[in-house]
Amino acid sequence: MKILFYAAKVYDKKSFDPLMERFPGIEIDYIDHELEPMTAALAEGYDAICAFVSADVGAKTLEILNEKGVKTVLMRCAGYNNVDVEKAKELGITVKIVPGYSPEAVAELAMGLALAVNRRLYKAYNKVRENDYSLRGLRGVNFYKKTAGIVGTGKIGAAMARICRGFGMKVIGYDMYENPALKDFVEYVSLDELFARSDLISLHCPLLDSTYHMINIENIKKMKDGVILVNTSRGALVDTDELIEGIRLNKFLGVGLDVYEEETGNVYEDRSDDIMMHSVTARLLSFPNVMITSHQGFYTLEALNAIAETTLQNMMDASKGERTKNDVA
Ligand code: NAI
Repeated sequence: MKILFYAAKVYDKKSFDPLMERFPGIEIDYIDHELEPMTAALAEGYDAICAFVSADVGAKTLEILNEKGVKTVLMRCAGYNNVDVEKAKELGITVKIVPGYSPEAVAELAMGLALAVNRRLYKAYNKVRENDYSLRGLRGVNFYKKTAGIVGTGKIGAAMARICRGFGMKVIGYDMYENPALKDFVEYVSLDELFARSDLISLHCPLLDSTYHMINIENIKKMKDGVILVNTSRGALVDTDELIEGIRLNKFLGVGLDVYEEETGNVYEDRSDDIMMHSVTARLLSFPNVMITSHQGFYTLEALNAIAETTLQNMMDASKGERTKNDVA
C-alpha cells in the first residue's frame, strides 16, 4: 500500500518513519508540494494520499485523484472543512481523519494565547530584551473568578473548559449537544448569553456553513467591553474585517488567533522576505492587543505521535475495507 504524502515537513517524517515497522506493507513517499488540482495527478500509482489543513481537497482535486485510481484520502488532522465530502462520497473515495488526537495540545495553546494577550507577554519579552523594564502597556486582568465562554464543547472545548476551571473561572458553554462529561461545572447558555456574559471567549466548533463568520460585528457588539477572544479552531469562524472594526471600537482587551482567514499560503512557510501586497493580517498585527500564531495548536510531541499512529492505522483499515468512526466519507 503506497501513500503519497503531500506538503511533508521534517517533523512529519520524524513522527511517521519510526512507526513504519509496526505497519508492514505500507510505504510512504513524501513530497513538499501541497495537494491541489495542479498536483493531484502526481498521485498516479498510489493507493492513498495523505493531506493536511491547507490542502485543497475540493471537487476538482477529488476528480483527478479518482481518475488516477486513488480511492483513499487520509487527512492527518481533525478538521476536514477543506474536503468536499459529498463529492468524495459520489466518487466512492474513502476519507479518513484523525479526530481528537490530542485535545489538550490545542486547548493548552488556546489558554496560552489568552494569557499572552491578557498580560501582553509578547511585548514584555521584547521590552526586557531591549533593557526596558517599564510596565507601560502591560496591565492585564485576573482570570480567577472571571467567566470563560466555550463555543463548541467537544473534545478540545472540553479540555479548554477543564483548564479554565483550573484557573478558578466560571465556565459557560454553547453547543447544540451538551457534553455529559462537563455537566458538573459547565453551565450551558444560548450563544447570545455566552457573548454577553463572557470575559474570555474561546472558539472550538468546526467550520460549517452555519458557523462561518459567527464572530461578526453584530455579535461583537453583544460582547462585554474588555473581552478576550481566542480562536484556535478555523480562521473563517471570524470575519476578519469586522473583527478589526470591533478592535477599533475598543471592544477587546486582547485577541489571540492560531487560525485566521488569510492563513492559506502562509501556514508553515517562511515569508519574511515577501512584500505582502493586500494583507488584512498585517493590519491585524498592527494592533498592540493582537497575537497571531501560525496554526500550531496541534504541534506537540504527543499530538504528532498520535496523528502518525492513527493515520497509519486508518491506512490499514482502508486497505481491509473497514469502516470506522474516523471515516467522514
Ligand atoms: P469535536 O467534534 O470533538 O467538537 C466540536 C464541537 O462543536 C461538537 O461538540 C459540536 O457539536 C460543536 N458544534 C458544531 N456546530 C456548532 C455550532 N454551530 N455552534 C457551537 N458548537 C457547535 O471537535 P474537536 O476535536 O474539539 O475540534 C474542534 C475544532 O478544532 C476542529 O473542527 C478544528 O477545526 C479545530 N482544530 C484546530 C487545531 C489547531 O491546530 N489549531 C487542531 C485540531 C483541531
